[in-house]
Amino acid sequence: MRVGFLTSGGDCQALNATMRGIAKTLYQQRKDIEIIGFIDGYKGLMYENYRIMQPSDFEGILNLGGTILGTSRCPFKKMRVIENGFDKVSAMKKTYQKLKLDCLAVLGGNGSLKTAHLLSQEGLNVIGLPKTIDNDTWGTDYTFGFQSAIDIASRYLDEIQTTAYSHSRVFIVEIMGHKVGHICLSAGIAAGADIILLPEIPYEIEVIAQDIQKKVQAGQKSILIACAEGALSKEESILSKKQYKLKVASREGHSVVYEIAQKLSHYIDKEIRVSLAGHAQRGGSPCAYDREMATLMGVEGAKLILDKNYGQLVVFVDHHLTAIPLEETAGKLKYVDVHGDTVQNARLMGISFGDE
Ligand code: F6P
Repeated sequence: MRVGFLTSGGDCQALNATMRGIAKTLYQQRKDIEIIGFIDGYKGLMYENYRIMQPSDFEGILNLGGTILGTSRCPFKKMRVIENGFDKVSAMKKTYQKLKLDCLAVLGGNGSLKTAHLLSQEGLNVIGLPKTIDNDTWGTDYTFGFQSAIDIASRYLDEIQTTAYSHSRVFIVEIMGHKVGHICLSAGIAAGADIILLPEIPYEIEVIAQDIQKKVQAGQKSILIACAEGALSKEESILSKKQYKLKVASREGHSVVYEIAQKLSHYIDKEIRVSLAGHAQRGGSPCAYDREMATLMGVEGAKLILDKNYGQLVVFVDHHLTAIPLEETAGKLKYVDVHGDTVQNARLMGISFGDE
């Protein structure tokens, strides 16, 4: 049995742990397993860039961050676009057939899973494993990498908290999450942020300023704002997709936190500083929870392969590992539930979302 592995999109901490979980289970259950590792995600599949993996390749990687196979971003919207005469989908099918693969295991987030679904529709045997620090894959309560990212983001906020206090400053810290704010919400609560700004809850700068003033008047020295990369104002939230893209482009690569800091400075006297938690949130070793989840998700993926139950994504729902058709999840995002318990309880204890 020949199984291809690829890791696609932004990396995260438990990719290796997941591949190890799949590989160990396959080797354990069958004697005739051959694993082909594609280099740098779908690019490896397109350009026949691969390694024949040995069981030893999966040893000692449980707590190793990044991905031993490398990864790359190959946007789904460009998959069917022929570029310089190169047909990516045909090339991927050709490699799959040439290598006589029985199945391809894709470890990826939303865009990568859309491509996995496309390949499955094209007749390839594909399974998906839900990877992303953002935890925004629809149909699963958990994506591996999420808890490790929360741990790093909350520690980063902790460190900012002490210097913010010493200097009586307002700090706006950017946390990863362009379209969804799961990491920012969890890390913000875990680190005791005063204000949390999420893409799902558009803010008003005047409301943020009033919240800061209220807290300062109540005797608070410093203010910690956890701000998701994709946080947006009420005015921005009603822009068309195209207009919003232009707005983001007008920041010339600068994060939204600089814009918020600049706007806030017109309303408050306190010193304001910004800080970016950045790609460290995706780096380093997976935390214990991710090692366990990734390993068990890997085993679940191997079960799908052994049962020839293709076209499925491993998911974690209501504390159980199971699988759903790739078709069900492709193209959908799991947003923060703005009316859910987490946001409502946070509001009850005085955390502001800058909206009311
Ligand atoms: O998808 C994971 C993620 O880390 C997002 O949270 C973030 O917005 C994005 O990737 C950053 O992408 P890149 O690594 O391409 O800068």
